[in-house]
Amino acid sequence: MTTFWTETVNRLTPYVPGEQRTGTDITKLNTNENPYPPAPSVLQAIRAVTGEQLRRYPDPESVELRTVLAEYHGLAIDEVFVGNGSDEILALAFLAYFTNGRMLQFPDISYNFYAVYCALYGIEARTVSLDEDYQLDLARFEANTGGIIFPNPNAPTACAIPADAIAQLLERHTRQILLVDEAYAGFGADSVVALTRQYPNLLVSHTFSKNRSLAGMRLGVAFGHPSLIEGLQRVKNSFNSYPVDVLAQAAGIASMSDDTYYRNTVAAIIRTREQAVADLRLRGFQVLPTSANFLFARVPDGQAGKLFKRLNEAGVLVRYWDKPRLDHWLRITIGTPDDMGRLMNCLDA
Ligand SMILES: Cc1ncc(COP(=O)(O)O)c(C=O)c1O
Repeated sequence: MTTFWTETVNRLTPYVPGEQRTGTDITKLNTNENPYPPAPSVLQAIRAVTGEQLRRYPDPESVELRTVLAEYHGLAIDEVFVGNGSDEILALAFLAYFTNGRMLQFPDISYNFYAVYCALYGIEARTVSLDEDYQLDLARFEANTGGIIFPNPNAPTACAIPADAIAQLLERHTRQILLVDEAYAGFGADSVVALTRQYPNLLVSHTFSKNRSLAGMRLGVAFGHPSLIEGLQRVKNSFNSYPVDVLAQAAGIASMSDDTYYRNTVAAIIRTREQAVADLRLRGFQVLPTSANFLFARVPDGQAGKLFKRLNEAGVLVRYWDKPRLDHWLRITIGTPDDMGRLMNCLDA
């Protein structure tokens, strides 16, 4: 059948999100969601939103939320941008800075959405290979390309890079934008948000989906020099002026003022993570060092596809990619101690 698709749409390979199967018998360890709910004060703030507020459009510039975020990080409001999840912010950032006719560099094993955005916008990608230990060597990035993006910690490997190594990269590369995707930095990796003051070519993205338990709300943040933020605003206001709805703004504001709650849930996840790493190693898995709310583990006999399927049939969902260098590995989200116990029981069975 002929379609009315454009050439661009014809050649897209869209991102495939993890399965969202739910049910009481499902242990969902496949999309790096937080196993704990958001703080009670966040739920209260959402409930307190009135019909009158919902009748109207939200504040298009999310001023109150951005002010709270700026204060939290010691920045000014014009150094903060918010969007409908960090995926949306990345999509806007690619359009704002990387459709410059030059190559964009990112790790060959990394967040799959980067390649998807490149295809969407016709950006040429240069992938930088992780080394044999699945570590990212920042010296492998070339100078003077169209830009660099990587997640820290990386996904799906969960390995983190220290802030001083990123600062050195920024010293070497002053003429291209570096976008550090810190979706998982809240679980123990260094953040380079403070470096945005020193390096006008650094943009850092955060999300409320992971350490702040709000994946269902869709809220992301970017930090950077006012001129980078203005670039994002120009694209946002040429696409959708109201990406962050009234509920998400209220939830985000409440979330930022309840840090103790999140420090506790993150600490619980880190404890469960360390136990899960030890339990998997006992069972013969190779597990990469993890600074995220997930781990990347090589299945003892290398048959990760088979194990993925067996776990899935047993109601334990994890992530598997049938791709070179990934096909012996599983990415496993850290759930509650009970979730991880069920995983271990299934593995033993
Ligand atoms: C590395 C990385 N960046 C960004 C995102 C997007 O997160 P969100 O759109 O929920 O903010 C994800 C989601 O899993 C991710 O793994």
